[in-house]
Amino acid sequence: MAKYLCVNVDHIATIREARKMREPEPVAAAILAELAGCKGITVHLRQDRRHINEGDVHLLRHTVVGSLNLEMAAVPEMIQFAKTVLPNMATLVPESPNEITTEGGLNVEAKISEITTAVQSLQSSGILVSLFIEPKMEQVKAARKTGADYVEFHTGNFAEAFERRNEKEVELELSKLQDQINFALKSGLRVNAGHGLNYRNIHRIAELSGIDELNIGHSIVARAALVGMEKAVKEMLKLIGK
Ligand code: PXP
Repeated sequence: MAKYLCVNVDHIATIREARKMREPEPVAAAILAELAGCKGITVHLRQDRRHINEGDVHLLRHTVVGSLNLEMAAVPEMIQFAKTVLPNMATLVPESPNEITTEGGLNVEAKISEITTAVQSLQSSGILVSLFIEPKMEQVKAARKTGADYVEFHTGNFAEAFERRNEKEVELELSKLQDQINFALKSGLRVNAGHGLNYRNIHRIAELSGIDELNIGHSIVARAALVGMEKAVKEMLKLIGK
């Protein structure tokens, strides 16, 4: 069972950006998530600023009581920003402009010198560094070489197999995850996991051992919108006088 839950509030900002207005504020969602007991808050500052922006990250840095995890591309602009705002952890992710969400893990093996430089630069400011990778031995080995503190295993293949109800593939993905968690821990890395986790599939990930933090975003924000709908409508009806 994972030790902690970190809630990704990017999609609160996605709703805000749909109207380019001031609400809903990711920082308000973060405060409520922390009050509900999560260990920390995760946000992804994308280069296209499609949801979270620098102002959000600064506000979160001042308000998040637990751990603030900043997901970002390993590019100089983001590294410089992270060193200014000082999140507790920076998670380096691959980023491409047209993707809907992060597709696949970082190819650490192919970009080892660039990623090592980024890891060292962030760590020199006291930021823990995590690398978002596929559960593959060659990527774990490369992550170890960079000196990163954590790897975050991409659970997207598991989540997709689960949605397709392909039981054989689900078991295969779970066993890959457990093997690579064990290998990463033996190599001296700590392990987080996330992507595509939801209220239907989480029980299978909760069975794995050795995970510190689960990063979950879309499904929690989606559920929050629905479980809050009845209350929101009743409040509006009251204001209308109905
Ligand atoms: N972990 C990482 C590195 C991610 O990029 C994302 C998506 O922003 C998540 C976890 C959360 O994924 P989801 O929104 O599918 O829960």
